[in-house]
Amino acid sequence: MWTDTLTRYQEMIETSLRQYMPEASPDDPAGKVTEAMRYSLLCGGKRIRPVLTLAFCELCGGDPELALPFACAVEMVHTYSLIHDDMPCMDNDDMRRGKPTNHKVYGEDMALLAGDGLLTKAFETALSAEEKETAANAALVLARCAGEKGMVGGQCIDLRTEGKEADLSLLVTMDMGKTVALISAACRMGCIAAHSGKTMEKAAEQYATGLGMAFQIRDDILDVQGDPQKLGKNVGMDAAMNKRNYVSLLGVEEAQKLVQDYTERALESLKTFPGDTDFLQRLAKSLVKREA
Ligand code: IPE
Ligand code: IPE
Ligand code: MG
Ligand code: MG
Ligand code: MG
Repeated sequence: MWTDTLTRYQEMIETSLRQYMPEASPDDPAGKVTEAMRYSLLCGGKRIRPVLTLAFCELCGGDPELALPFACAVEMVHTYSLIHDDMPCMDNDDMRRGKPTNHKVYGEDMALLAGDGLLTKAFETALSAEEKETAANAALVLARCAGEKGMVGGQCIDLRTEGKEADLSLLVTMDMGKTVALISAACRMGCIAAHSGKTMEKAAEQYATGLGMAFQIRDDILDVQGDPQKLGKNVGMDAAMNKRNYVSLLGVEEAQKLVQDYTERALESLKTFPGDTDFLQRLAKSLVKREA
């Protein structure tokens, strides 16, 4: 069953994240920030990005164990982006992963530092991989995808278009940054860990574009019609904040068609791989109607 593979990957990731991010000793004067980092990193989340890293590594014939530093690194960057995304100066959310948001528990000052800490820890983790050249290649991909040409840039567009007009092409640029970029880093780092070569890495990037766009559009739909209990976060926030997204522009029905279209593009890109792509096909399909 493909879900057995999913569980196997998730267990590897949970174990590894705890090893990279241990508790601070009781007498550590900076222990509070470690506690805040662990609170958001280890409290749940679907782990889609690190799962993709391990799956692409295995698809390309690599040992997924060797991809764990990169898988954990992308989850750390993602978690930092969520902590900051939820802060009052950004989306002002008070629930995440089924619990109060980081700043609600630790205060804005610690939440800011927990994000900084996780971003930095991500690169420490990626660069701790044994093969140093592979580690450097992966870290470079992650850095580019996380920065102002990637996730940070997308978040900038998201904030700057609140309450303003935005056409479809601006929404694509926004989501390619805020969501696709990190998913792309996740998939590509899996290929890099397996020394796949550029053709596979390019196909992995195409898969990430399809899956990542579908993932964000589905997120926008769930903000309108999702169940907060299942999602672990509040709904109705995008409309309340006057966010521009696919649902505000096209409505739920058209947006869901786009989720389907982008998923088909993701599936198409898997044809490049000679290995067994069943897991990655099923994962993409399962996200089309996801409720969480
Ligand atoms: C939430 O990501 C932010 C988006 C890009 C939509 P996820 O839905 O992957 O959140 P977690 O990691 O499972 O909490
Ligand atoms: C979040 O997009 C993207 C990043 C955190 C980079 P959203 O703001 O839509 O994510 P949610 O809905 O708060 O999870
Ligand atoms: Mg946001
Ligand atoms: Mg948000
Ligand atoms: Mg959202």
